[in-house]
Amino acid sequence: MEIKAIRGFNDILPDEIGKWQFVEKLARQIFEGFGFSEIRIPVVERTELFARGIGEATDIVEKEMYTFTDRSGNSLTLRPEATASMARAYLEHQLYTFDQVAKLYFIGPMFRYERPQKGRYRQFYQIDAEVFGVENPSVDAEVITMLMHFLKEVGLENLELQINSLGCRNCRPQYRGALKDYLEKRSFQLCEDCQRRLSTNPLRVFDCKVETCREALGEAPKVIRYLCPECQDHFKKVKKFLSMAGLQFILNPAMVRGLDYYTRTAFEVVSYQLGSQNAVTGGGRYDNLFQEIGGLDIPGIGFAIGMERLVSLIPKEKGFRPSLSLFIAALGERAYQEAYQLVHQLHLQGVRVEWDYEGRSLKSQMRRADKLKARYVLIIGENELTSGKALLRNMEDKSQEELPLDNLVTLLKKKVQD
Ligand code: HAM
Repeated sequence: MEIKAIRGFNDILPDEIGKWQFVEKLARQIFEGFGFSEIRIPVVERTELFARGIGEATDIVEKEMYTFTDRSGNSLTLRPEATASMARAYLEHQLYTFDQVAKLYFIGPMFRYERPQKGRYRQFYQIDAEVFGVENPSVDAEVITMLMHFLKEVGLENLELQINSLGCRNCRPQYRGALKDYLEKRSFQLCEDCQRRLSTNPLRVFDCKVETCREALGEAPKVIRYLCPECQDHFKKVKKFLSMAGLQFILNPAMVRGLDYYTRTAFEVVSYQLGSQNAVTGGGRYDNLFQEIGGLDIPGIGFAIGMERLVSLIPKEKGFRPSLSLFIAALGERAYQEAYQLVHQLHLQGVRVEWDYEGRSLKSQMRRADKLKARYVLIIGENELTSGKALLRNMEDKSQEELPLDNLVTLLKKKVQD
């Protein structure tokens, strides 16, 4: 039986890769302009990092992690997100000794055992950016500004930036208590999972998609009303800085994010073109994460963009398979040898050139050149070898010209790469 890919794990084929490369290149360019540096983190971490970082009572940790025991008996997990790993790397390598502020970005696949559907996969890619070491609300606004600028440069329209504040260690417990009291009175409306969440983590009820749970939340207390004066002040300043940067946003008091590490600012960017999985980006501040994973008291803020969702929103004409500059069609053994040399030389010069390895008929070679959308075709046969000239055909305007065989590499490179 033919072996197929696992459900929720996608191939990204050459036809689609242009958009991915376009997005990645732009992210690097823009993020680096904002002072960010790339970091690469491992695919696998100790399970404890995510259990403590993301929170034991989150959907991700409770039921979505790819966790296994290695041959030494360690519990390891395929990373379901990058923030905790980046924080771990920052602590482990004491990046704070270089500069108090670290701006890092990461691009790579994440793994979550979710029910696959359009826009939701088990392996998915994120572009992630984090700033460690700044508590000031101006950085919250700067990170969001960078994100929105990037999304705009990608060419996306009709996006909505939603923000909220989730409070801090001091004020969140009161809110949690109030929400719990409210939901307990409606527990008969809650699904089994949410009934359990009532005691473990009532905020997670906001993430539930079950209709009766959503109804139960109708009049639920809003976190914003419970913010302590410091959190209120922080949020007020974030909004002010966002407005100063000319960004429009919507306050969404029901957006609590699915990971427990968030404090204060939380944000999402949604696209109404996306259907039910409409969040292109999620992010926020996490001022206790470093301590949760056993480190220093360091504040942080960042976001992750879901690449599959982002790429699906890009207009067709952006990014495509690089076109073939030249196809060399050779007829006969001597011409085949000449073509081999030419292709070899041109490859070393960085020219995207193809030819027919099997030396088939001219007709089939021309058909292939057409299919590969070669911009030029060079034809070499016995006649050309005798006359010392090869025929170069421009496939777009169908014009032809003869090129001398000596010095052909330089001539071709100049012609086809213009
Ligand atoms: P998240 O909201 O879990 O946040 O994921 C961020 C984005 O990743 C989502 O908005 C979505 O576009 C994409 N995404 C999530 N799960 C899937 C999936 N199963 N299939 C396809 N795309 C998906 C985080 O991961 C945080 N680490 C973000 C962050 C960084 N917060 C602070 N810094």
